Amino acid sequence: MLPFLDLTRCTWCGLLYTKKVPFQAFLRATFTLMAVLIWPNLLKATNHPSPPPAIAKTQFPTSVSISEILQAGKLVKPKPKKKATLVLEKFDVKTGEWHEEGVLDLLVDAEKFSSGGFRDAFLATSCNREEQQKWVIKKYNAKAKDAITNTLKTTEEDHTRKQVQMHSAARQLTKQFSIKAPSNFGQSFYYNRVFYTKFEEEPATVEEYVPGKFVKYINNNGECCSTPEDCTNEGRELVLKAACLVHFPLNTRKRGSCS
Ligand SMILES: Nc1ncnc2c1ncn2[C@@H]1O[C@H](COP(=O)(O)OP(=O)(O)O)[C@@H](O)[C@H]1O
Ligand SMILES: [Mg+2]
Repeated sequence: MLPFLDLTRCTWCGLLYTKKVPFQAFLRATFTLMAVLIWPNLLKATNHPSPPPAIAKTQFPTSVSISEILQAGKLVKPKPKKKATLVLEKFDVKTGEWHEEGVLDLLVDAEKFSSGGFRDAFLATSCNREEQQKWVIKKYNAKAKDAITNTLKTTEEDHTRKQVQMHSAARQLTKQFSIKAPSNFGQSFYYNRVFYTKFEEEPATVEEYVPGKFVKYINNNGECCSTPEDCTNEGRELVLKAACLVHFPLNTRKRGSCS
């Protein structure tokens, strides 16, 4: 008789199907071995279920209107996204130096969500489950690339770094302004964090996403923004406050310091 123990130790077909072993015995041995090998796994599966995969707890939104619920009847295709790992570089206004600030793992929407005169903006979400922060990656459009190379005679990398440098300077001045503003000024402004990076092999910026509607309260030509007829009092106040913020660095520059 064929001892089953030998089966696990030796090469399967080589050992078993020899002339010495009748074919029926070979088949019996095969099925018994299969049972021996499979059974413990079946037992494991039924007696000791493995822990379920880590899935975030179901959370129900506090209020969903009937029309929103009815929308669920229409098929919604997920937005195409791509994974990206960005190496961040931060500009230090005080020392005038660039520093590596770490790495961001993001899921980036393949389609841009907005664009300005120079750049296209892509929404990205941090891959970190605990803290799904939203970011905006900005890349130059074709017209801007042409202007940077042929009119400004510079490189995309230098131009992008300048964007971050100027943003960092504005952020610093805005911080100073908020500290100096009298208490009756009320709520002041702040700039989000912005970093230099490379996205899809091209120089890009990445900054914190600002939710809500984008409204322009100041412009680049030195003229104050006019307020529309139907502008709310809150809107008028924001325009005046923005003009104060613009005035502050100009005044500071005349005095030569912002401390
Ligand atoms: N941090 C942000 N959060 C949310 N939306 C943004 C942010 N930055 C830019 N956007 C959107 O992207 C558009 C283009 O960005 P912008 O900085 O104006 O690019 P450009 O360099 O071309 O002027 C904006 O008009 C706005 O709609
Ligand atoms: Mg713009």
